Formats: sequence, structure tokens, C-alpha cells
Amino acid sequence: MKFEQAYERMIRFQADNGGWFVHQSKDTLHGIYQHIVATRAMDCLELGTAFGATACVMAAAIEESGRGLVTTVDRIERGPVGVVELAQAVGLGSYIRAVTHDAGYNWFLLDRLRECTTGRLCEPCYDFCFLDGAHFWEPDALAALLVVRLLRPGGWLLLDDLHWHPKDHPDWQTAFAQLSPTELNTRAVGQVFDLVLKPHPALEHFVLSNDGHMGWCRKVGGPPPTRLPGRVMATAVRGAWSMTLNGDVTTADTAQNHNVSLRAQRRAIIIRATGTDPWLHLTVPATSRPIAYVTFRLRLLSPDIAVMQLFWLTGQAGYFSEDCSLRCLLRRSHRPQELTFCIAGTEQPDTMRGLRLDPADDICELLLESVTFGSW
Ligand SMILES: C[S@@+](CC[C@H](N)C(=O)[O-])C[C@H]1O[C@@H](n2cnc3c(N)ncnc32)[C@H](O)[C@@H]1O
Repeated sequence: MKFEQAYERMIRFQADNGGWFVHQSKDTLHGIYQHIVATRAMDCLELGTAFGATACVMAAAIEESGRGLVTTVDRIERGPVGVVELAQAVGLGSYIRAVTHDAGYNWFLLDRLRECTTGRLCEPCYDFCFLDGAHFWEPDALAALLVVRLLRPGGWLLLDDLHWHPKDHPDWQTAFAQLSPTELNTRAVGQVFDLVLKPHPALEHFVLSNDGHMGWCRKVGGPPPTRLPGRVMATAVRGAWSMTLNGDVTTADTAQNHNVSLRAQRRAIIIRATGTDPWLHLTVPATSRPIAYVTFRLRLLSPDIAVMQLFWLTGQAGYFSEDCSLRCLLRRSHRPQELTFCIAGTEQPDTMRGLRLDPADDICELLLESVTFGSW
């Protein structure tokens, strides 16, 4: 089923039933749909069903590519309207298996591991998994580890809400009264992505989408990927050529607006944004080679979270515009992180004439260690 058709049916069903079933944005759902179609994923798993909107979109993609099944797990069965009713209204009921496990999805995963494991060998059974459930450290760190075992080589795992912590809840004092200060302040899914999945030897291709709210990774093996699900990678990459400029070099003698101040720290630079809409230009290396990606090695010092945006000038463009820009959410951390912005994709790298960094929307402090330019 085409995405638009499935989406329209869900929105109509939502309006007819006066509920809020479709939690993800249309763009997000479309991205998941496209990914399943493009990778021809057949056996898909969702951990955290809610009302089943994403499960329906996954099912639409499976129907479009031919065959497969979405298994979606939740500890709560929604009624009177839930995933079964929504899937039926969209016409995709036969592609969805909804599981209610009141002990939670890790117990479902235990059952799957039991079925798939013989001796020391686990025969993996999923091509794609979307983890969008508890958003707490214990259930989700365990779920991520278990799911990696169950993913087939080349299968993808997607995590939602890398930035979320319980204090984002408007009524967190009541809703999460039982949590400790550490739990309240921990962006647990982000920690799972950074500290459990990124160092995992069975995973590669760590990609961010939705301005850094969603994190993807791929189980090693399988055919080489032909497309990536987002344009920002949460790692450095290896290019056919590359050139690295230290932070102090890439910001020397460049323009910046009055809301930005710079302070060198050895070879790095501390960028302080002191007001709204801060920006600064970065030096682009003098090269006639096309530049397809830019990797930043940086650390957000404050605040806890900020969205940086990178603008570039290529081709005939005379000014920086949103069309040639990428945004990515940064989380404060004690160690530098590497973020690769894919400017031109892999096919048509273009010569870059200018680069502008908006370190945040507002006040922030960022340590920029280096910028690497390159192409595949
Ligand atoms: C954000 S909602 C899921 C939204 C859904 N993926 C979608 O895109 O429409 C999170 C769901 O996870 C479920 N959940 C939370 N912790 C869980 C656990 N440990 N096991 C199973 N389900 C859980 C909640 O009941 C809730 O329905």
C-alpha cells in the first residue's frame, strides 16, 4: 500500500474516532516507510505499540514490497480502539501481529531468544526493529542488547527520542514521582545509543535522522547498504580523500555575528553564543576537489541540549538557505563526539564555496576541536 493512502486512512480514522493515535510526524513515518521498502525488510518488530500507527505504516511498506509481518509489542492493550482496530480500518490487519505482554517487551524478547537459540547459536529472525517504548535505562538498554542478537545481518535498529528525559514530561513531578534525580535527568535512549550500541562490535552505520531525535544502526554483514536512512552520521567516516583543519584554523579570520565570541584553547576553539540566531562562517580548505561530507569533532559544554545547523554554499547559490542545510541535536557530554554531515550524498559531490555554522538557536558554549572535509 502506498504511504499516502495508509496515512490518509489513519488520519481519517483518528478524526472519526476523536482520538490521538498517530503520534509520529508524517515525515518521520514516511522515512520509516521508505526505509522498509528500500531495504526490502520482511520481518519487522516494534517495541512499544501504543495505538499502532507506526505499525500500520510498517505494514503498508511490507505490503508494498510483497511479503512479511510486523510484530508489535506493548504491555498495555489499548481499548476500545487500539492497534487491531486501526490496522483493520487501514486494511492492513493481516500484516500485523499485535502482542500484549504485561511484563514488558524484554519478556517477549526472552521468548523469541528461546525459540531462536540452539546451544550457542542464535538464528536471527528480524530485518528491522523500531524501539519506541519505555525510554528508561534498564528496559531499553536490555532491549537494545537483546534485539541486536535477533537482527539478521544487515538488519537495522531504530531508536526514537534520543534526547528525551523524564523531566521533559509537563507533569514530571507527579508522573515520575517514584524516580530518583539521576533517572529524572538521564536521557536514557541517547545513552543506550551512545554507550551500548555505538561501541557494539556487531553494529555499524550509526545514522541520525529527524534533526538527531532518531538514531539508526545496522547489524554487520549482509550486502553493502545502498542508501542510508539519514544525512547525519554519529561517527567520523572514511573518505576517498579528506583534509582536517583544527578548530582554531577553521575559525581564524572568518566572519561571525555579534552574538558569537571565540576563544582558542590550544588547537581547538571555544564558540560562545550569547544571544539569538548566532552564526559564524568556517574556513573551507582551498581545494578543487568536491566536498561530500563535513565531520565535526566537538563537545557541547552548555546548555544540556542544543540544535546546531550547518549551511553550505555550492553550485551557483549566492546565499545560505535552509534548502542547503542540515540540523542536528547535540547533547552535552564529557567527551568529544564526531558528527558527519553528508552535504551531497555519495553520487554528486559538489565543490563547496562557503560554510556557515549556527551553533544553537540561542545561548550555548561549544568546544570545536576540528573539522574534516572529504568525499567518498
Ligand atoms: C511512545 S509510545 C509508542 C508509540 C508507537 N511506537 C507509535 O509510533 O505510534 C510507547 C509505548 O511503549 C509502551 N511501553 C513502555 N514500556 C514498555 C515495556 N517495558 N514493555 C512493553 N511496552 C512498553 C507504552 O505502553 C506505550 O504504549
